[in-house]
Amino acid sequence: MSNDAEAALIDRDAAHLVHPLHSPAGHATGKVWVGGEGAYLVDANGDRFIDGLSGLWNNTAGNGRVELADAASRQMRELAYASGYTGSSNPRAIELAERLSKITYPNINHFYFTSGGGESTDSNIKMARYYWKLRGKPEKSKVISRIWGYHGVTIAAMCCTGISPYWTMFEPRIPGFSHIPTPYPYRYEAPEGSASQGIAAADELEKAILAEGPDTVAMFIAEPVQGAGGVIVPQDDYFPRIREICDKYDVLLVSDEVITGFGRTGTMFGLEHWGVEPDLIQFAKAITSGYFPLGGIGMSDAIAEVMEESGEPWMHAYTYSAHPAGCAVALAMLDIIESEDFPGQAAAKGDRLLEGLKSALGNHPNVGDIRGLGLMCGVEYVKDRATKEPFDPKDGVGAKIHSATVERGMFSRVRGDVYCLAPPIVTSEETIDKMVEILADSTRAVLG
Ligand SMILES: Cc1ncc(COP(=O)(O)O)c(C=O)c1O
Repeated sequence: MSNDAEAALIDRDAAHLVHPLHSPAGHATGKVWVGGEGAYLVDANGDRFIDGLSGLWNNTAGNGRVELADAASRQMRELAYASGYTGSSNPRAIELAERLSKITYPNINHFYFTSGGGESTDSNIKMARYYWKLRGKPEKSKVISRIWGYHGVTIAAMCCTGISPYWTMFEPRIPGFSHIPTPYPYRYEAPEGSASQGIAAADELEKAILAEGPDTVAMFIAEPVQGAGGVIVPQDDYFPRIREICDKYDVLLVSDEVITGFGRTGTMFGLEHWGVEPDLIQFAKAITSGYFPLGGIGMSDAIAEVMEESGEPWMHAYTYSAHPAGCAVALAMLDIIESEDFPGQAAAKGDRLLEGLKSALGNHPNVGDIRGLGLMCGVEYVKDRATKEPFDPKDGVGAKIHSATVERGMFSRVRGDVYCLAPPIVTSEETIDKMVEILADSTRAVLG
């Protein structure tokens, strides 16, 4: 294909298509993907690129997994769709809920399916509020989340998301949503005399609950590792302390496992790293490796029991909840995750990627922090390594480094000046090493 093939498609795209985070200027040099081969994407000019972010953190199994395509095709031929509303079900959804109850946290055994992450956030907010009403505490309705958290952009999910550019165009936000600082080991400054940085960061939650009034707070939602906010891995003592605080004030702990679920961080679910059990979980993305839009929430036995006993219908519903084809793909994907040991692979390959990045970039004067857990890593560029002073956003350093990696055959995403990497779990070791080489070359090309 000629080089003009992609440019011609971008012109047609610009005429009628509106994108997530739509920005005509940013899109003018955009890519049009026409194919995929394992951990690689192929553009309209026929060039291959390493898929540095597994699509949007979702395609852990890579492209070309015939098992997943076959599962969808088989199910669509057998039964295209059936309502999942009470009074109607399908075998794939029943099987998927059974399977999930075996692999999620031991206390999580009841599941409701959605079409993605944002719908899952909304479902958990509504679940938490309903739970407290059933428990005779209707005033417990507030939601606390974290700066740099990403939980989607439906209007309620947007209010949980702690990245302010996502709010400003659409304010006012819904009352009753607030944010605490992120534990961000590289940047969080613990008050003098704190037991540790992680404990101090977790204690921010206690302060916020007390400020709001414990009788008004329904839930705290957090990603085990913050993803879109720049791959922020918490301290080991952070989540155990968060759990204690939630228990102390009767606040539900919601683990947003939309990125961390199904092996990405080296364990099946993220909070397993710290031996913490949440009250509610949410997942999406890797449950189908992006082959079908499916997400969901999982609730603790305690919550499910209160719901069962209520005797009234839960007035929450999506047309595509428990979609038979989505559930079929998810079941085939769970076979892959288990038989190919995705958590184990992510742990080993993640170590290789992190070590590679540290040895290639660890001494660069503009690399402030290199971090990761399992197969999700972030490289944070700064103007001054000693003071951690960031570059002026106008310099667009992150965007320039990203463009340089695209020129060298790798496509991913940046959060400001943090370059994020979360390739498919099936990525070969050779390709992981190539990713390190490309990022190191690109860093030198842009920053010297
Ligand atoms: C942790 C987390 N939660 C929720 C979402 C929102 O998911 P969706 O875009 O499917 O609505 C995302 C998307 O990246 C996410 O990373």
